Amino acid sequence: MVLDVAVPDDGIVAQVKKITSGPLFTDQTGEYGTPWPLAEDLFFCNHMGGLYLLDSAGQRELLYATPQTGSANSADSLMRPLYPTPLRPRKLADGRDYPQVPPQTYAGERALLSGHKAATIAVMNVKIADMPLPPGLEPKWMRIVQLIPKATPNGDNPRIGYGTQSLARMSLGVVPVEQDGSVYCEAPVGKTLYFQLLDKQGLAIQSMRSATYVHEGERLSCLGCHENKGTSPAPPQGTPLALRRPPSKLQPEASEGALPFNWARLVKPVLDAKCTGCHLKEKKGPDMSYGSLENYAFCFQGAQGNFTAPRVGGSRTTPGKFGARFAKLTAFLTAKHHDVRLTPEEYRRITLWLDLNSNELGAYTRIDEQRRGEVVWPELDVEPWNPRGLEVLSKASAPPKVVTGVRAGPAPSATLVLTWDAVPEAGSGVDSYQIYRNGVKLATVCGTRYTDLTVEKNKPCTYEVAALNRSGLEGPRSAPLAVTALNNALAAASP
Ligand code: HEC
Ligand code: HEC
Repeated sequence: MVLDVAVPDDGIVAQVKKITSGPLFTDQTGEYGTPWPLAEDLFFCNHMGGLYLLDSAGQRELLYATPQTGSANSADSLMRPLYPTPLRPRKLADGRDYPQVPPQTYAGERALLSGHKAATIAVMNVKIADMPLPPGLEPKWMRIVQLIPKATPNGDNPRIGYGTQSLARMSLGVVPVEQDGSVYCEAPVGKTLYFQLLDKQGLAIQSMRSATYVHEGERLSCLGCHENKGTSPAPPQGTPLALRRPPSKLQPEASEGALPFNWARLVKPVLDAKCTGCHLKEKKGPDMSYGSLENYAFCFQGAQGNFTAPRVGGSRTTPGKFGARFAKLTAFLTAKHHDVRLTPEEYRRITLWLDLNSNELGAYTRIDEQRRGEVVWPELDVEPWNPRGLEVLSKASAPPKVVTGVRAGPAPSATLVLTWDAVPEAGSGVDSYQIYRNGVKLATVCGTRYTDLTVEKNKPCTYEVAALNRSGLEGPRSAPLAVTALNNALAAASP
């Protein structure tokens, strides 16, 4: 297919023109691949066992075919030639015979160079957008979301949420948007990222649906959210406000269940505490299980349909018409519905879930454990000791200090909440804590709070907590705390 950027982009593939015969999207059964444009309407490409010259009317000329030496299924008869690339020897003006590409990042060997500073992200003015932001809604925060690469084969195995082929994802945090629309913040590196703008209530008003990446030491900067491809906006008047100060730090959005994401940890405890009891008693409304909320939540569908489905903007997100702002459930989170009262944190937990495609799972494996409310970290592209993926410029040589102030309290739905004092940042910084129950490693969490949803009632147990720094070093364990979880309370906890 040919992508014609002279055609205005309607978000539903107006720019794409199919030039080959045969069905669309059948690469799995062969057909065409790896095009190399030679001119506006002439391409090298592969097709099954051959390399071809192809024109924009779909006419082709065979250039090369894999020799068929063995039987039909032998290895060389299955060999498919890929990536036809025209090459010719070139010399640089100074006689060197290969191009020197000046590196813009500090990856690999360059990590040790003295100019290496931690990567940052800057946006000049998020309000510059080709699809106007909803009137009256000021962007106050930018959310950075990590998409988690699929770790299991086959689509929807496992199904991550209501949306077909939805990817697992998690919020790495939010950073402020200045009055002039500018953003400047520390950057997670080596992760698949996308961005959302939030209003002062914390609800998303615009979202990117494709993704980008930041390398070590990179200064990634963008104009907005984004400019119309066919225009060149005026340069900013003076230095944007955010760039006059040090980069903002990523701020966590919820005390638990957001990083790593898990519906059973983030959302379910809120519904159990504030909604489920009355619905069951009154025998009215959904039972508040994940499945019961599908028609009240919001998601983009993955496989087939969305790219050409104008309802949700095709491949684009219609500002203000997605996530929590669009989901029916949001209207039930205020006192107007049977005098429901949520704390700001409870409200954020539910709206964050709705803004992130209303998924149930945050990882592709250990499904039962996730549903029981255990902390399960995704398999790929995530280090639990440095969950935001911030750069570690020099590895810490010493482990973090001992954790103190470990306390236990009762939690809604008869579980138990542990809290502790943050270990002061030093060296590479402390990002996570390791929880032990009866001496056995239970979970690695980010933040200073852990709700144990799997503790056995009426059975004494001990907890210990140890800090983890971004180099992955673990500090000494806290003094053990002995606790017994009763049905709706705690027996005296003693350090
Ligand atoms: C919250 C607003 C917003 C911000 C901020 C933003 N983007 Fe995007 N981005 C979008 C939207 C909207 C699209 C359109 C397609 C889509 O929905 O993904 C997009 C698309 C993209 C694409 C895919 C482009 C294509 O043609 O396929 C890339 C790459 C990208 N953005 C990179 C970045 C980078 C790099 C930054 C700055 C660090 C950035 N974005 C900041 C909203 C944003
Ligand atoms: C004090 C009782 C009570 C509480 C608390 C309560 N609800 Fe309801 N809910 C009801 C009743 C009764 C209905 C049936 C419709 C009606 O009368 O509003 C209902 C219906 C619903 C419906 C279905 C509405 C429809 O039209 O299909 C949703 C969604 C809902 N509630 C969400 C929630 C959420 C979310 C919470 C917690 C934040 C919650 N409810 C807390 C009593 C309650």
